[in-house]
Amino acid sequence: MSTPIVIDCDPGHDDAIAILLALASSEVELRAVTTVAGNQTLDKTTRNALVVLELAGRTDIPVAAGADAPLRRPLRTAAHVHGETGLDGPVLPEPSARSLDVHAADLLAETIEPGVVLVPTGPLTNVALLLERHPDVRDRLDAIVWMGGAIGEGNVTPAAEFNAFVDPEAAAAVLASGIPVTMIGLDVTHKALFTRGHAERLRGAGRAGRFVAELSDFFQRFHERSYGFDGSPIHDALAVAHVIDPTLVTTRRANVEVETASQLCDGRTVVDLRGVTGRPANAEVGVDVDAERFLELLCSRIATLA
Ligand code: RIB
Ligand code: CA
Repeated sequence: MSTPIVIDCDPGHDDAIAILLALASSEVELRAVTTVAGNQTLDKTTRNALVVLELAGRTDIPVAAGADAPLRRPLRTAAHVHGETGLDGPVLPEPSARSLDVHAADLLAETIEPGVVLVPTGPLTNVALLLERHPDVRDRLDAIVWMGGAIGEGNVTPAAEFNAFVDPEAAAAVLASGIPVTMIGLDVTHKALFTRGHAERLRGAGRAGRFVAELSDFFQRFHERSYGFDGSPIHDALAVAHVIDPTLVTTRRANVEVETASQLCDGRTVVDLRGVTGRPANAEVGVDVDAERFLELLCSRIATLA
């Protein structure tokens, strides 16, 4: 029995790999993809989502574009990480499929029913708009597994992880919604690095494998330069992997709040692991990961795609 999921994303190298992992895994059924501005502008993240689905031969999966800017802040993109196209590295033809003529929040509302897991891998703007426009979705959305946030150091600032930083108000709204949220943050994604060895393993494994290897070639440059890593964290794929196999990531129940009014710490996810604030727990937070099993799952599944 597979788990139906919807991915709300900002492709983005790791978003693209997350989509392919979902398509290659029978434990999940990808029902729709919605796009948000984040790593790049909305037109580029939407084009990239269409490109990835076409590469995988899955233009049957509906795509809808959502917010082109955060709820209350100017958009901050990450061309220094993902390049001008948002998927720099591999060269792919323009997609033939188009996104639907509906807003992502409305496609999410239409698609979400009991049993569906929402996997946001970008800023949470679309999810916050979903809750605003379709408050009844709270009654049928069982779980959100979000790649975002950090217990410790951020990546876009010392205090904040990118997805939370771009739209802190949206992240705060989702965490306050009462919907069960699992936060797959940098504390676990940075422990599972996709190395050149993994890329070489996939480079000869069909078009999807070569595509992932070429994405990794580009993505690796930022992580080598900024962190001195000998690999890249495929952040968003770990969120999808958590739905596929929830034993990969160890989580702890905690209160998570988001800073929205700070000079230095805007967008910080404040994770109260020891319960010192007395604030009620509202999320499962990733605290450890079986990196080897995750990377083996990722590589072995991508290799099965044509
Ligand atoms: O901080 C990493 C997250 O921000 C990932 O989802 C990446 O794709 C960017 O969206
Ligand atoms: Ca992302």
